[in-house]
Amino acid sequence: MCGITGYIGYRDAYPIVINGLKRLEYRGYDSAGIMVYDGEQIQLSKTKGKVFDLEAIVSSDGAKKEGKIGIGHTRWATHGVPNDVNSHPHFSQSGDLVIVHNGIIENYDTLKKELVARGYTFHSDTDTEVLINLIEEVKKTEGCKLGKAVQLALTNVIGAYAIAVFDKTKPNELVVAKLGSPIAIGVGDKNEEFFVASDASPFIEYTKNAIYLEDGELAIIKKDKGIKVRKIDNDKEIDATIQELQLNLEQIEKGGYDHFMLKEIHEQPKAIVDTYRGRMLANEGVIRMAGVDDNLSKFLNADRIIIVACGTSWHAGLVGEYLFEDMARIPVEVEYASEFRYRNPIITSKDVVIAISQSGETADTLAAIKLAKSKGAFVFGVCNVVGSSISRETHAGAYTHAGPEIGVASTKAFTTQITVLSLITLKLAQAKGTLSTSTINGYLQALQQIPNQVEKLLAIDPLVRDIADVYKEATNCLYLGRGFNFPVALEGALKLKEISYIHAEGYPAAEMKHGPIALIDENMPVFVIATSKGHYEKVVSNIQEIKSRSGKIVAIVTEGDVTVREIADHVIEIPDTDEAFTPLLTTIPLQLLSYHIAVMLGKNVDQPRNLAKSVTVE
Ligand code: G6P
Repeated sequence: MCGITGYIGYRDAYPIVINGLKRLEYRGYDSAGIMVYDGEQIQLSKTKGKVFDLEAIVSSDGAKKEGKIGIGHTRWATHGVPNDVNSHPHFSQSGDLVIVHNGIIENYDTLKKELVARGYTFHSDTDTEVLINLIEEVKKTEGCKLGKAVQLALTNVIGAYAIAVFDKTKPNELVVAKLGSPIAIGVGDKNEEFFVASDASPFIEYTKNAIYLEDGELAIIKKDKGIKVRKIDNDKEIDATIQELQLNLEQIEKGGYDHFMLKEIHEQPKAIVDTYRGRMLANEGVIRMAGVDDNLSKFLNADRIIIVACGTSWHAGLVGEYLFEDMARIPVEVEYASEFRYRNPIITSKDVVIAISQSGETADTLAAIKLAKSKGAFVFGVCNVVGSSISRETHAGAYTHAGPEIGVASTKAFTTQITVLSLITLKLAQAKGTLSTSTINGYLQALQQIPNQVEKLLAIDPLVRDIADVYKEATNCLYLGRGFNFPVALEGALKLKEISYIHAEGYPAAEMKHGPIALIDENMPVFVIATSKGHYEKVVSNIQEIKSRSGKIVAIVTEGDVTVREIADHVIEIPDTDEAFTPLLTTIPLQLLSYHIAVMLGKNVDQPRNLAKSVTVE
């Protein structure tokens, strides 16, 4: 939700900030803006639209681009519609202070009324303009410097924020602060330059050293002088830890693919191997996962596992439910984090909560974790982004090693989350003795084959493209699956909705007769997952029911299938594996299908309307 970036140092700030915004655009892309200070004047340009539109505006509005200090913003609107005025950066009333903000100031209305009473006028509908004027008011009345003014102002704020603030009267510094939304500070050589960003991608080619601010921290960054980090609620200075980033530039570029989503779909074989590498020794029947090994008794003594997540990660959690219950015989509940956090759930110290999140920043998931911790539960994180808020907030965890996922529609995060959940399940089944050694070894061998099988499956792309061409004009689609593939049906429908804006619903195949069957006619494509070991005959009956009502059937079957091929309009074969691992395969053609339909419809695949990659607001 919104990307912020900034630079202070000896280079021109404009290209660094603009390129940074392009990398952060996955976080929000309904408006963009930039401020550069040229030594005399603040040059500020902003517009509704994408960073591309911002560049065009800067070229046409004659704003100077020189200056060694700048901040920028790419927006996902919360308060105020996306328009030029509501875009960031925002000026304070005097015009001396400039802010970019990611998050929500919940008490902005009360603060605004107080400021209006003190003579402030507002141009935008944003909470951010309230914050910058509050900072200005504090600075004026307390007679303090910017850092202190930001600190004092924030103690009056309820909500979430990552901010960067510039003061024209002190043009050699930036003040940044964080609560609930992420912020990283890139530390250049010899303390001569510094970068600020919502994640490290904007500065990865300049420095591998970064400080991740913790919640409730504020940093004053001074050119040539360095960084001072302190707590917002007291003046205590903190020795910030500089971390060495593992990220590299190729990982965040498209690498010859037309879209990040397609690149990320194709990265899945490697991402799955990276996720189980070093953890699974299939030939020896060994699973090593430090986060689980160190807390094994917590898992083994758990009354139940509660999985909390949002979006695609929630779908991976549903696959986890089927895995844990079937193999490790542990009761599981899968909860939308946004519901869980507000429904006064019963949580005890005998519960293990697994929080799944690609970004590690999803606000609802983070809040669910805090709630579970406050009730004494042991909380385990499954995150992709190293050092993210969720990975820091959980007691222990296991990273997925998918690498950066930039396309808004999640793909490799899903399959690597399922990989981690499979490993945890097998580890627990081993420890509990719920499966025999030979069964576990068989599963490990099967899991080891998955990356090669995904690779093979990716070669069916031309067939999927042809099918996409047939159904691209559909206005509604149904996705059906049973057992382990019910969550895949949900995920397949979500992928189509997200990037092509075609209405799609995922359903358990047998549940179709309790409602969705009424929708079926000759215009309704139905994507059915009918793998050979997954209640196959039952699903075949469901397919017959669709056929009898003239629905169009695209079936995903196990290779060599004969029965469904005779009934379905189109068939996509997946390699044979254990039913428990079929989601890692059946999901691939559904990802490709959504991708091709969206491309054929001319949609913006990587930046679908209204969505954002990381949802750091409620
Ligand atoms: C957003 C993204 C989805 C993602 C969901 C949960 O809605 O667009 O792709 O599945 O958030 O995100 P998380 O980072 O917690 O997995």
